[in-house]
Amino acid sequence: MADVKKIAVIAGDGIGPEVVGEALKVLKKTEELYGYQFETTHGLFGGIAIDEKGTPLPQETLDICKAADAVLLGAVGGPKWDNNSKELRPETGLLGIRKALGLFSNIRPANVFDCLKEASTLKPEVLEGTDLIVVRELTGGIYFGEKFRRQGAHGEEAVDTCVYNVVEVERIVRQGFEIARTRRKKLASVDKANVLETSRLWREVVNRIAPEYPDVELEHVLVDNCAMQLLRRPSSFDVIVTENMFGDIISDEAAMLTGSIGMLSSASLGEGAFGLYEPVHGSAPDIAGQGISNPIATILSVALMFRLTFGYHEAAQAIEDAVKSVLDAGHRTGDIAVDKSKAIGTTEMGDLIVAAIKK
Ligand code: IPM
Ligand code: MG
Repeated sequence: MADVKKIAVIAGDGIGPEVVGEALKVLKKTEELYGYQFETTHGLFGGIAIDEKGTPLPQETLDICKAADAVLLGAVGGPKWDNNSKELRPETGLLGIRKALGLFSNIRPANVFDCLKEASTLKPEVLEGTDLIVVRELTGGIYFGEKFRRQGAHGEEAVDTCVYNVVEVERIVRQGFEIARTRRKKLASVDKANVLETSRLWREVVNRIAPEYPDVELEHVLVDNCAMQLLRRPSSFDVIVTENMFGDIISDEAAMLTGSIGMLSSASLGEGAFGLYEPVHGSAPDIAGQGISNPIATILSVALMFRLTFGYHEAAQAIEDAVKSVLDAGHRTGDIAVDKSKAIGTTEMGDLIVAAIKK
């Protein structure tokens, strides 16, 4: 009797349901090929949850996630909810789910698919060999510090506080070292230690832990310099570990290097094997419902889930190989097509990939 893996499926808003639909087909195909058993439970989250339940993160959805082995998330948000108060914004639900599930580590691989080099705004020779992972701290820092308004000498003021404790820094930095160890053994720790106290603590912790990883080459990079070096020498980075807000910014920059944000998957992890997997791209409300979105990032998020949560390495590889073979055969959705007139739709792309998954 195969062991049944429980997956909470949160399609969300915009193109979320379309891309998640294709990822579910991939799950089904791997059940057939590999004998896996997945039990999926769907939950409302984001804008649709605001509309139907009056909150972006209903307790019921959180319970579904907590009862699962992994969460597959589409995307949340859209102009409809952009002017809502903080409590009624999809983003608030996103921060809430990260915190409630203890997902302190956000892993965003950015690798350039050879056949898509022309889709990047950077020169191919600069991109050559770019394959990096941003490991972003996800439940601390300025995102979660105390926030308030007050009256100051010049009228209203707003305050956001940035707090990090040693435990929070240590666990994410260790993740960075551990991941680097499985790759090219290079870790760039990104901070702003020339200005921020939280960054000085960060750097102290990194330096204290570093001797435990003598096989990993460590560099400290100031965040502004990192933003520049990412454009100048992207291929020299292997693993980048950084705090919440720097990671938010740097990971978008890294994603854009690849020229294909529609291709990038991400994982949010806590202490155990449990993880939340989602495409890096957003809900793309401008193209939602037209059947033209790119499902590859969500499909690759399934591969990441197989690797990091279930340990299904062979099937993960099979999914990644299938994506590559479909791209190599020249199939493109509109976002990555050079000749837009030849672009295929979401379900066609999903079907091609499903058909290409081999055991
Ligand atoms: C991300 C997003 C979120 C973040 C927003 C939508 C709250 O930009 O996942 O990177 O800032 O973390
Ligand atoms: Mg972001």
